Amino acid sequence: MNEYFGYKQDRLFAENVALDDIARRFGTPCYVYSRAALTDGYRQFAEAFKSREHLICYAVKANSNLAILNLFARLGAGFDIVSGGELQRVLAAGGAASKVVFSGVGKSEAEMRQALEAGILCFNVESSSELDRLNTVAGSMGKVAPVSLRVNPDVDAKTHPYISTGLKQNKFGVAYTEALALYRKAAAMSHLRVTGMDCHIGSQLTETSPFIAAAEKVLALVDQLAASGIALEHLDLGGGLGIRYDDETPPSIAEYAKALLGALQGRSEKIIVEPGRVLVGNAGVLLTRIEYLKHGEEKNFAIVDAAMNDLMRPALYDAYHRILPVVRRQDIPSPQSSPAGGRGGERERQSLLYDVVGPICETGDFFGHARKMAVDKGDTLAVMSAGAYGMSMSSNYNTRPRAAEVMVDDAVVHLVRERETVSQLYAAEKIVA
Ligand code: LLP
Repeated sequence: MNEYFGYKQDRLFAENVALDDIARRFGTPCYVYSRAALTDGYRQFAEAFKSREHLICYAVKANSNLAILNLFARLGAGFDIVSGGELQRVLAAGGAASKVVFSGVGKSEAEMRQALEAGILCFNVESSSELDRLNTVAGSMGKVAPVSLRVNPDVDAKTHPYISTGLKQNKFGVAYTEALALYRKAAAMSHLRVTGMDCHIGSQLTETSPFIAAAEKVLALVDQLAASGIALEHLDLGGGLGIRYDDETPPSIAEYAKALLGALQGRSEKIIVEPGRVLVGNAGVLLTRIEYLKHGEEKNFAIVDAAMNDLMRPALYDAYHRILPVVRRQDIPSPQSSPAGGRGGERERQSLLYDVVGPICETGDFFGHARKMAVDKGDTLAVMSAGAYGMSMSSNYNTRPRAAEVMVDDAVVHLVRERETVSQLYAAEKIVA
């Protein structure tokens, strides 16, 4: 819970709207975002970096809803994209191409053309063959592509192995030891213009030290480049700042910025950062309704109407998300202390340990294990900290239409994505005669 999502008496609110009202009005599963939380997160970044020239490029993959992109665009954000699709979204949401950086190891020719046509700020290039392709594509369009190389600093981000990206064995970036040679190669190509250097070492980092270690390695390279006559205009230090899901204690945005700016003291390059999770993660929750309670021999299950297709982080990373009842119930004493125990409905409302699971036929389809809750069927739960990598990683597995998304603004609720319909899911499919 934070200042945007919290209880008033026994009802959980997003800003000034009760979440049980949202569940009734829009149905479940439903993602709920707080406009104030999104705005405040962005403003904290802008404030923390204001002492020097900077650009905050929101990592679109964390949550790509147009309403969120539009909100950040209006606050002055740039965007970090990883596909032509994300570029199209940014433009549709009113974002400026001139503030877009394009990351990713596998950019296609079509994506390069699209980005050159739009006039993006920079391509974060991740390999020697990508330099060749980009030079050819830009040449064929009579354009010059602005590039930075994503350097792999070989720093341990100390995060989940699936989201750690800055180690030698990861597929990301160019090897630290090859970076200088590749910069020389890029500088000699007629349709590329070297403008910056980039690194991103992983996601959900809860300490500042790996960021600083990476920045220092990158800066040493920038100095070597300058000595060989290649001066850079910007440094992109990636994203990765973690959030609190459970009992983590990540640095605040201000502490993170202070540490980075400390490492950059006395330098004149423009700073780019690519935050994703920290801007949206705790600005969103997923509402889901309990369909059934099932009291097994060893475990109690709360079977809910959301599933791993809606929020796959627990299934994929064994990620922890808090789960809160949207309306708190009075805990009924357990049967040992109350002879009334077991009477119709009452067992249901005792505070018990539940595995909160979805309806999909996979054991990985869970949101949490052994969560103590006093709940009954029909109750609504809020899966907390679901604003980042929730909806954006959702799928239609089991032909489940994706959830509705709403944005709360003080006491007003805006539907920002309608719930999908099943016929939309197979609209592009054809039966063979
Ligand atoms: N820049 C680049 C090049 C990235 O690859 C990423 C995230 C970011 C920025 C933003 O990182 P953030 O500030 O959000 O940590 N699906 C996973 C997270 C994957 C992160 C991938 N890259 C999860 O749900 O935890």
